[in-house]
Amino acid sequence: MTIAVLATFFLLSWNNASAQDLMTNVYGRKCQLLNGKWNTIIDLYGVGRPMRVYLNKKPQTKTEYFEYCFDKSPLLNVPSDWNSQSPELKYYEGTIWYGRHFSPDNKGERLFLYFGAVNYTCNVYLNGKKIGQHEGGFTPFQIEITGKVNDTDNFLTVEVNNNRKSDGIPGLAYDWWNYGGITRDVLLVSTPHDYIKDYFIQLNKYKSNLIEGWVRLSEENGARQVVVDIPELNCKRNFTTDASGLAKVSFTVKKLVRWSPQSPKLYDVIISSPTDEVKELIGFRNLYVKGEDIYLNDKPIFFKGVSFHEEIAQRKGRAYSEADASMLLSEAKALGVNIIRLSHYPQNEYTMRMAEKMGILLWEEIPVWQSIDFANPTTAIKADTMFKEVMIRDRNRCALSVWGVANETVPSVKRNKFLRHLISNCRAMDPTRLVTAASDGARYNNDNQDFEVNDSILDELDFVALNKYMGWYHPWPTTPDKVKWNVAKGKPLVFSEFGGEALFGNIGNADVKSAWSEDYQAQLYKDNIEMFSHIKNLRGIFPWALFDFRSPYRFHPNQDGWNRKGLVSDQGFRKKAWYIVNQYYQNIK
Ligand code: GCU
Repeated sequence: MTIAVLATFFLLSWNNASAQDLMTNVYGRKCQLLNGKWNTIIDLYGVGRPMRVYLNKKPQTKTEYFEYCFDKSPLLNVPSDWNSQSPELKYYEGTIWYGRHFSPDNKGERLFLYFGAVNYTCNVYLNGKKIGQHEGGFTPFQIEITGKVNDTDNFLTVEVNNNRKSDGIPGLAYDWWNYGGITRDVLLVSTPHDYIKDYFIQLNKYKSNLIEGWVRLSEENGARQVVVDIPELNCKRNFTTDASGLAKVSFTVKKLVRWSPQSPKLYDVIISSPTDEVKELIGFRNLYVKGEDIYLNDKPIFFKGVSFHEEIAQRKGRAYSEADASMLLSEAKALGVNIIRLSHYPQNEYTMRMAEKMGILLWEEIPVWQSIDFANPTTAIKADTMFKEVMIRDRNRCALSVWGVANETVPSVKRNKFLRHLISNCRAMDPTRLVTAASDGARYNNDNQDFEVNDSILDELDFVALNKYMGWYHPWPTTPDKVKWNVAKGKPLVFSEFGGEALFGNIGNADVKSAWSEDYQAQLYKDNIEMFSHIKNLRGIFPWALFDFRSPYRFHPNQDGWNRKGLVSDQGFRKKAWYIVNQYYQNIK
């Protein structure tokens, strides 16, 4: 590593809410929710920090005054994005200060502030002192505040900025709304001094009766005993940590019912140490690729997929609650899916946990979306940190089946190096899941009369994922039944995105693209399904997308700031194409 990179690395990790301090299964701990209405100050020129508004000072004498007052400032909901909470904030990109008082309910030996997500960067201050910072709009972070809180009143300030950054992940422009704010739960978490920080408990990739993994305790103070208990399997095993607090776990089980979409079986798993105990529901399954097939529990599976953004269209805002997760997932289930690509960034933990209860596999990705500063070592560190954070949060979610390391990135020496690093990191941190990267690199070869992809990264992936909008961005080179795909021979191939736009209620003009008609969209889906039936190694499709979603660069009046490729309109109405996909999925056994 060059000196510059080293310096950057330490700069980023210093005083940052860094990934390695994150605990897993935060909702399985003693938690106090800090959700609710927070006072806010819109800081358009970014002067709040030099004004030190985080001190939350009040005039003490007749001659003192401060040009801010959190306690009387406007209120915004937390969690939520700010854009959907007032017309003035619809397009706001900049800084907003959030502030609130709190008193800790539970005085465990240790106390942590845990943020589910803040978009995009933030600085956190407690009782007037900076205690941490974070970059990344879709992954959790925590800051230890043990010994820093008053018994009764504390003032917490979060300086949030959602300006897009050329060295950010995502970069400067992307096809979704730049919702800013504290967009997920904020929790006070209390733990024993020596607590169970992280663990991974899952079936060996290929064996249906061997559970493996590890448990990591927070303190590095010698060997300690940990116990993994799965009461329903009558299986309680003791393990001993090494001096650093890490215990490897491996034990065989009998009569385990593996998790699947048809039977989403979850088990109570209790992990205990001499000073701590955490419990959560965990499902067990085997997932691997062999030849051109994807296997779940030793049987080939076809990914009947769909994608959605983390957005409630009717509310014109971010999704963040259990009720939101239930709405999004129920509509996907009704379509007949067995997998959802959570595009294009890690979505909230409610969605993760509810999907596995509903028997829906998940594809998760960090927003390495199109133009990213692949040459910048700082950007690479940000990508690593985001993957670490989401892996610590989700690695015990059995529904999580696919890691996506990129979306539509252009092959280059720098991009290939960046992605190869992410792919190997993914595999090292999590060997039980599939790794892919959605590519829009398929080009029609007129000489061979077929579609081809020229991207060396595809060789590193468990399956090839293509985004291809036949009939929308790309005209048909021949009739759909005659289109040939000479891609990913010997590997599974999925279409990770395809589709076209329609404004709900716009009927007729089935052959006019610019009509934005449901009939055009429906015919497009029929044509793509016809094409799919001729692709021998096709193992999945993901219509883009389940719902119309907001995007600042969708200018046409029929779009009005919405990407209309949804199978369901922004008002919640199913378009004609929804029924075509539903029928197609019903016919796949
Ligand atoms: C791309 C991209 C999506 C985008 C879609 C579209 O494939 O991956 O994020 O929304 O095209 O243009 O609708």
